[in-house]
Amino acid sequence: MEPALLAALQQLCRERIAPEAMERDRTARFPQEHLDALAKLGLMGAGAPRSLGGLELDTPSFMRVMEELAASCASTAITWGVHASVGTHPILDAGSAEQQQRWVPQLARGERLGAFALSEPGSASDAAGSMQCTAVRRGDEYIINGAKQWITNGQHAGLFILLAKTQPELRAKGISAFVVPRETPGLSIGKHEDKMGLRASVTNTIHFDDARLPADCRLGAEGDGFKVAMKALDASRIGVGAQALGLARAAVGHAAAWCQEHAPGQGVQFQLADAHVRVEASRRLVQRAAHLRDAGKPYTKEASMAKLYATETAVRAAWLGVQVRGEAMGPSDAERIFRDARVMTIYEGTSEIQRLVIARQLGLPSA
Ligand code: CAA
Repeated sequence: MEPALLAALQQLCRERIAPEAMERDRTARFPQEHLDALAKLGLMGAGAPRSLGGLELDTPSFMRVMEELAASCASTAITWGVHASVGTHPILDAGSAEQQQRWVPQLARGERLGAFALSEPGSASDAAGSMQCTAVRRGDEYIINGAKQWITNGQHAGLFILLAKTQPELRAKGISAFVVPRETPGLSIGKHEDKMGLRASVTNTIHFDDARLPADCRLGAEGDGFKVAMKALDASRIGVGAQALGLARAAVGHAAAWCQEHAPGQGVQFQLADAHVRVEASRRLVQRAAHLRDAGKPYTKEASMAKLYATETAVRAAWLGVQVRGEAMGPSDAERIFRDARVMTIYEGTSEIQRLVIARQLGLPSA
């Protein structure tokens, strides 16, 4: 990443994003002003090509942005990350030139916030097998019915990447991907989740009631949607790894600062030293997966390794941050980070799913 861009991002984080994190967490205030500032830096189109209005950052640089944001405010980081990753990548990977021209510049300018609608009330880890949402072709349209749940950015999104069944009798091969603009008739935004952490980000249920979508909003061929989704999740799982890395870095940093004032014994020092090692190991795993992606090599296993290790590191570091202080009372950065970290081993594929992916990639026989 250009040093000037990194310096501008770090200044934004230091002067505006980090100082507001506690208040945004307390009041659940959506970080729209931060997204506007990121758009001014070009970062709402971080990974998009320059020809489509993006910055065309390489993947390691994208992950550095994520780490810096998460170290300052994890709610801002996930809001940006879902937009710039799973909310944008499927159009770049599977969209036609016309679809890319139509949608990506708006995303890159931050005029539309992206979201990714895969999970459903009865379909989370088993994304292909349990999916109920359907898209039925009628002439030049698809009629969409169903609900999507736990959708990050939901109520503020201007565009959804939707996965729906075009052939319900099939598993993965019955799923297609679509770009669904917010103004689609029949789309409505439902319940906002009252979450334990990441409280300044929004998470909603999205309803489709005979929603009518032009057929030219389908991404790729009918039946290719599950692969589009899995590919997008490969990249975004590195991103969640980078997010967890930033949060773990912050947890250790706040604990170390507390220790400067309170001079705890060697037991605490050793625990913080171990946590620091795990943070650095997480960084190596994130960067390794990111480099493989840019080299055009397979990186599914490495993305899952980065996500698994970094998110479990973040949970442990956040736990330690509270333990070191010897109090679990808010408001404090340690307590906020403790709550923010918890979901990271769950969303974008649980730790159990990451282990399943790694085991399959190792060729281990199915249990
Ligand atoms: N890249 C490309 N293709 C892939 C792939 C990948 N990484 N992984 C699987 N595929 C392909 C397979 O090759 C297969 O295709 P073929 O039949 O042609 O070979 C097809 O997809 C089906 O694959 P599987 O048989 O492996 O599928 P499965 O049903 O066993 O599921 C799974 C695999 C890994 C468990 C998957 O369901 C999964 O990742 N589940 C977790 C879902 C998830 O992460 N949800 C998070 C929601 S998003 C979110 O949280 C965002 C947010 O808002 C924060």
